[in-house]
Amino acid sequence: MTDFPTPPRFAYPADGRLTATMVAAYARDGFLVLDGFASPETCALLRGRVADLIEAFDPDQNRVAFSAAAQAHAAEDYFRESGDKVRFFVEEGAVAADGALDRPKTKAVNKIGHALHDLDPIFGPFSRDPRLAETAADLGLADPALAQSMVICKQPEIGGEVTLHQDATFLHTEPVSVTGFWVALEAADRENGCLFAVPGGHAEGLKRRFRYDGDDLVMEVLDAAPFAGAEVALEAPEGALVVLHGLVPHRSGPNLSARSRLAYALHVVDRAAAWSPDNWLKRAPEMPFRGFDE
Ligand code: FE2
Repeated sequence: MTDFPTPPRFAYPADGRLTATMVAAYARDGFLVLDGFASPETCALLRGRVADLIEAFDPDQNRVAFSAAAQAHAAEDYFRESGDKVRFFVEEGAVAADGALDRPKTKAVNKIGHALHDLDPIFGPFSRDPRLAETAADLGLADPALAQSMVICKQPEIGGEVTLHQDATFLHTEPVSVTGFWVALEAADRENGCLFAVPGGHAEGLKRRFRYDGDDLVMEVLDAAPFAGAEVALEAPEGALVVLHGLVPHRSGPNLSARSRLAYALHVVDRAAAWSPDNWLKRAPEMPFRGFDE
């Protein structure tokens, strides 16, 4: 194996406006690592909000494990109906043979999604940061809409890996427009499951679609060839923002460390593109997507 260069990283501009160098790096690599997006105070506020949300979660009511590999959650209405709600999914490694959690819920939640950006009094305003609107415009999103959000807990010792994928597999528009805004609420490194991405991999086109086929959610293979190219680690200190092109292959490792790795991911689509109606994500008619300033 070759040693791959450290991906370029930049300081997040105070006004959110990307420089020509950043725009060029994004076009070339399909991602941007931007340090200093969220202040330590904001990260602490958001981590506190996650703690409060989990405190209010009753795992005896719902105990659906999220599996990026097996996608077993896809059969569950609890998952299917989560597009316009705030719901909790637990780590596969936290569910005992009898179905009960084998550890406190604070150590068992895998993710919270998928409409925090619309429903949560803390994550809502954070998601509609005016700087992000500027960044989205500079990335080429003509009429951005906030489509999906999630807190990803990546719990110590059992935090599950997320296998290599493209976000457009899950949030499809024609043409592809989904853009990921991933914020490290705690430092993410190789030990606790940081992101990895394949620079330039967004040029390969979409490989799979996760979509409805009748009442079934299926993974349609469009291109069976594996992703080519070598990945780089997108290590992110607390407060960093990682922007991911909807076609760039990325993954995150398991967290086998004793530290947690809390992150917030917001996915934005362009309303100038056509939303694919067979996407898994469903919204009630009275809860249409909203933009940054709507
Ligand atoms: Fe992703």
